[in-house]
Order: sequence, then C-alpha cells, then structure tokens
Amino acid sequence: MSGRFEAHGDVGILWIDNPPVNAISQAVRVAMLDGLKQAEADSAIKALVIACAGRTFMAGADITEFSGPPKLPSLPEVIDALDAFSKPVVAAIHGTAFGGGFEVALACDYRVALANAQVGLPEVKLGILPGAGGTQRLPRLVGVEAALQAMISGEPISAPAAQEMGAIDKLVVGDLTEAAVAFAREKIGSPRRRVRDITLSPNSLPAGFFDAARQRTAKEKRNLFSPQRIIDAVEAAVTLPFAQGIQREQDLFFECAKSSQAKALQHVFFAERQVAKIPGLPADVKPRAIKSVAIIGAGTMGGGIAMNFANAGIPVTLLEVNQEGLDRGLGVIRKNYEATAAKGRLTSEQVETRMGLIKPTLSYDALADADLIIEAVFETLEVKKKVFETLDRVAKKGAILASNTSYLSIDTIAGYTSRPEDVLGMHFFSPANVMKLLEIVRGARTAPDVLATALDVAKRIKKVGVVAGNCHGFIGNRMLEGYGREGSLLILEGATPQQVDQALVKFGMPMGVLQMFDLAGLDIGYKSRKDREPGTFDVKSGAVADKLVEMGRLGQKTKAGFYDYEAGQRTPIPSDVVAKVIEETAAQYGIKRRELSEQEILERCFLAMVNIGCEVLREGIAYRASDIDIVYLYGYGFPAHRGGPMFWAEHELGLPKALERIREYARQHGPRWWTPSPLLERLVAEGKGFAQAI
Ligand code: 3HC
Ligand code: NAI
Repeated sequence: MSGRFEAHGDVGILWIDNPPVNAISQAVRVAMLDGLKQAEADSAIKALVIACAGRTFMAGADITEFSGPPKLPSLPEVIDALDAFSKPVVAAIHGTAFGGGFEVALACDYRVALANAQVGLPEVKLGILPGAGGTQRLPRLVGVEAALQAMISGEPISAPAAQEMGAIDKLVVGDLTEAAVAFAREKIGSPRRRVRDITLSPNSLPAGFFDAARQRTAKEKRNLFSPQRIIDAVEAAVTLPFAQGIQREQDLFFECAKSSQAKALQHVFFAERQVAKIPGLPADVKPRAIKSVAIIGAGTMGGGIAMNFANAGIPVTLLEVNQEGLDRGLGVIRKNYEATAAKGRLTSEQVETRMGLIKPTLSYDALADADLIIEAVFETLEVKKKVFETLDRVAKKGAILASNTSYLSIDTIAGYTSRPEDVLGMHFFSPANVMKLLEIVRGARTAPDVLATALDVAKRIKKVGVVAGNCHGFIGNRMLEGYGREGSLLILEGATPQQVDQALVKFGMPMGVLQMFDLAGLDIGYKSRKDREPGTFDVKSGAVADKLVEMGRLGQKTKAGFYDYEAGQRTPIPSDVVAKVIEETAAQYGIKRRELSEQEILERCFLAMVNIGCEVLREGIAYRASDIDIVYLYGYGFPAHRGGPMFWAEHELGLPKALERIREYARQHGPRWWTPSPLLERLVAEGKGFAQAI
C-alpha cells in the first residue's frame, strides 16, 4: 500500500507511505489519484490534508523510473487532479519536501511544516528542471528572484526560511498531523486558494532581468544545460498564461531529461549512494568509538586534516618534529580559519573554539589516548617506518593507525606494527579541509570494524569515503599517472601547454593537467621520478618538467612552472622559455612535432586514465566503476555533468569506440602504455557494460 485515505471527522487525510523517502512512484501517483477521488466523493469531508508516513514528506519523483518508458499516471496528471479538487487542501510537511514532493505541496492551498523540515527543488542537480509545475508556481508564491535562486542552486531551504519567503504558511511544534488537521478545519468553507491563480507581472522586474540571469548563470554553472532551461521556464511563468507556462515547462523538462548531462548526473546520484555499500562488510559490524584523534605531521596535509576534525568538534592532537614545524602548521590553520571568518562564514568565537580543539605537541606521550592516529609525514617508507614503529609502542590497544600516504603500500606500512589489523590508509586530497574525497585503503589484514570506523569517520567529517584496495597510488593517483603522462607527451608531440589545458577546461575540468602540475609543485613529480625504478614510468613524459625544476621553475610557488605567474595571481601566462624547453626536448627524443586536435588531446588524457581504471576494476582495487567516478568527481574535480571518467567512456564514447581508440594509440605509440585492459577487451567482446564487469 503506497497510500491510503483516512477520515478525521470532516477532514480527510491522504497518507502517502512509500519507504524509505516516499518517492513519488507510479503506485504513489495512483494512490494519490484514488485518495483525491475518494475525498471528493465523500460529502462529509470538507477539507483535505496530504501527509506522509515515515521519516519524510515526499522526497521527489521516483528517480529510478527516469531511465524507463513513462509510467502513467504522470505526476502532472496528479497535480491537475489536485488543481481540480474542490475543497481546501493542506500539505503537512516533515523531513524533506523535495522536487516533485514540494511541487505537490505547492499545488495545495496551504503548507504547514515542522520547524526542522526542509523544502527545495533540487532537480538541477539531476540535470533536469522541476517538471510538475514548480517553475510556474514557486515564482508566483515567493517572487521570481527568490524562485530562480532556489531552482538554480537546488539547495534545500529550511522551513523557517521558507516561511519567511512565503512558501510555508505555518510552522508547527508538536504533533504535525494534529496541527495540520486543525489548520485544515479552520479553512473549511473557504474557496480554493490556488497558487496558479496568482498573477505575475513582467513589469515588476528590472529591464533585461532574464538576460542578466542567463549571463550570470552561464558563469556560475559553467557548461550546464538545465540551469539555462530553468531560466527559460521561469521567463515563461512571467510572460505566458499559466496553462501555456506549464506546457513550456513540460517541453523544457523533456529536453533536459533526454540530455546526456541528466543521465550523467543521475548516475552520480546513485553512485554516491552505492559507494557506501561495501561488499563483504556485514551491516552489523560496529564501528569503534572515535572521541579523539591525533595527526603526525603538521604540513600541507596534516594541517588540513586536523581542521576537518576540529570542524566536526572532535579534539585533535597535532605532532611535529620541532617547535618551528608546529608553529608553522598552526599558523597556516589559523590563517585559513581567519580567511573563512573574513568572508563571514565563521564567527571569531568559532575560530577560537576550533583552534582550541587542536592541541600541538612534540611528544608521542600525548598520543596515548587517541582513538585514531593519522600519519601525514614525508612520503618515504623510511620516515613512515619510524613513525609506525613508534606508534605501535605508544598507541593504546584498539587505536586505529592510518596513513595518508599517496602511493606507498599500506601492507608494508602495517608490517611495521605488531597490529596490522588496526592499520589502513586514509588518503585525503589537497586542500584536505576542502576536498570532499577520502580514499579509504583496505590493507590485506585490515579488520572489518576498522574499515567500518573509517567509513563512519568520513561521514562525521563530511567526506565521501571510497574504499580502495592496496596498490601503488590506489584508485585516484594510479589512474592519474596515465592522465599526467599523456598531458606531458602531448606537449612534446606538438601541442602547446595552453592548448592541452584549454581542451581539458572546455571539457569541464576545473583546470588543465599542466596547470594542475604547477599548482601541486613540479618538484613533487621530480622527486618521485628520481626514486622510481627505471621502466615503471615513461621517462620522456617527465623530461620537460625535470628541466623546468632544474631551472628553478617549480610551479605557482616560484611564480614559474609550465606557465609564468604574476605575484599573487593564479592566472597562467604562456612562457617562451617553456616553449623553447619543449622544442629542445622534443628534438632530443627525435619527436617530429605536429598539429594535435582537441579530440586527440581529450582521448589521450582520458582514455589513458580509463584503461588504468579498467585494470583497477579488474584487480578488485575498486569495487565498482561508479566508485572510480566518485573518486574523480570529489578528488580531482572531474565534472559531474560528465558522470566521471568511466561513465564518460561507457556512455559518451561507448566502450567499443574506447577500445578501438586505445588500440589505435597502441599502434601509434607502442604497447607499453596502451595495451588495452583485458577487462575492457572482454566487456566489448561480450557486449557488456561496467555494471556487469564482475
Ligand atoms: N527516487 C528514488 N529513490 C530515491 C529518491 C528518489 N527521489 N531519493 C532517495 N532515494 C533512495 C536512495 O537512492 C536510497 O536508496 P538505497 O538505500 O537503495 O541506496 C534511499 O532512497 C535513501 O536515500 P538516502 O541514502 O539519500 O537517504 P538520506 O536520508 O541521506 O537522504 C533525501 C534523504 C534528502 C531525501 C535524499 O535521498 C535526496 O536528496 N533525495 C533526492 C531528492 C531529489 O532529488 N528529488 C527530486 C527528484 S526529481 C523530481 O522530483 C522531478 C519532478 O520535478 C518532476
Ligand atoms: P609536507 O612536507 O607539507 O608535510 C610533512 C610534515 O611532516 C612536515 O611538516 C614535517 O616536518 C613533518 N614530519 C616529517 N617527519 C616527521 C616525523 N617523523 N614526525 C612528525 N612529523 C614529521 O608534506 P604533505 O604534502 O603534507 O604530505 C604528507 C603526506 O601526505 C605524504 O605522505 C604525501 O604523500 C601525502 N599526501 C600529500 C598530498 C598533497 O597534495 N600534498 C595529497 C595527499 C596525500
């Protein structure tokens, strides 16, 4: 039963009950039409309340139905029936009234809500727009500007804020159903108060309002299709009669729904939820209690990691080798908090509270009570060995020992302790207080409850935890090698750094690969190449960067890397010096420079990455291709509207085409880096997709 009608004297309640979030599935839509019919036919019923069982009001249309053929009745049909209903209707909102759920509420005469409820139209996050009247009703109810802002951001609005905007009529304390029934009873005998009947006048808006909104949105929501369509729909709400506005909304909704961006963003919605489901980890494994944390190393990463815990109200002890290191680390943390406070996002009391939660120390004795210890010292096994041997001596029994290593083996590190079951990788991404990804590296002997704790900790510090197996670079950095290698080779073969980067930025990346190297510092790759075994990487791909480092061009920090930078600026300026280094290096390797197309730049960078992604999947380093996509979205800024690299390869390019191109690059550049992954070969041969990879 997805819904039922219940009489409370002269007020009827139409209950929706479709756990877990009352998504408006076909069965719910049928139940709503039935309930409305019943309430209409019953002359003893004088007003109606629409309420939901369980943890929330309707959280929106059923997204699982989007990929199949339309199932009738549609939600607009249900909303039409609600419009045609003759008695006053009150929506009783608790939890989240999102998307179609909020649109149902907007088609009611009144909305009452618990104070901790939220409303919103998050369709934009799924690449679509509100398609059940939201674009026409919300502007009528709260004004065009507020409605546009709500729909373009897709962010939730708290019930008190919604009341202030005019979208909620009454906030309720105590029993929502009782209050909603009493409210509805007060309205018995009054005529319908339909939002659709409110008149919107274009004259109330400044001249050029919609064009200005289009331009602003094109910048803020770069490359996105549906925000522009939202503006078109709201313009229709202002310029057309209601029925025509609804028709326009429908047309625009279907345009968005069939776009590749909608498919990608809906993939992301489900991928985000899948990622928390860990095969083989029993649901009843109890995470260990984490009440205090310690971090070793207060450098770039350690400081940012400490901030995450302080932000969540968890005390952190921060250990360094000397006072100077501690002072420097704490200074950076304070500067970061103060910058946030200067933007009005933290009060000075909050800055002090958070700083107060971070206790600096030079002594391992201060770590004896920590429940979780995260190491973020230099990236060499020698230093990590010393740290973990010491931790093994000082950490209390049951403490979790984590490493933030970027590449090193978690099993080797666990082997430095007598408790490998308590060891795992917790790999944050720079800047660690900002980037949402946490790669959780499961060692061969990591205990299930240690893994469960890391996943739990990720949630508490508002990160997206993705479990990875142990290998060089885990999921993200292992694949990044292919991306970086090809970006670096393309400039030797004839592309300029700006050509490569512009192609990637146009695709939707926040910055190009060479800009990324400049930001991270070219010395990082330089050092790692010096430490690596010959044959494990393409020497010529690092040749330009090595020369730049030897010239003192380390990237943004020295105002010169692949590009030049002006003091205090991050805008990359093409450099003649670099152009010369590139040409000389190409000549040195006998590379004949040629014109490169944008398509080749994208294919080389992303297919190199995807081919490694297939290996990561084949080896079980990632559980699902969609987990890899989440790593790239939250750790490297891969554009969500492309779904992630694996989704891009499967759905924009198609796996057969991806394989064909990889084979072509193997013919052109040799098999060493371009041999197709056997998994990709198999999937294409069997006509399967990544979902059937395992
Ligand atoms: N349709 C189908 N399934 C949904 C769903 C929806 N709208 N919303 C959530 N679910 C599923 C999730 O996939 C998850 O399933 P799983 O347990 O099998 O993984 C389960 O419900 C629980 O969801 P969460 O894990 O996200 O639960 P939370 O309690 O953390 O969050 C929520 C609840 C805030 C409601 C969150 O789920 C959410 O934001 N949902 C999406 C809301 C949304 O985008 N609505 C708009 C839909 S589009 C629309 O309405 C079009 C209309 O304009 C025509
Ligand atoms: P960093 O050089 O900025 O900081 C390292 C800090 O550790 C220094 O402050 C140093 O004084 C301290 N340190 C060294 N040995 C120590 C010891 N024995 N005890 C206590 N403190 C010690 O380095 P960064 O960038 O913070 O990297 C740290 C770790 O995080 C490395 O393993 C790195 O691979 C990893 N990492 C780095 C990322 C980045 O973008 N910088 C991203 C993700 C992981």
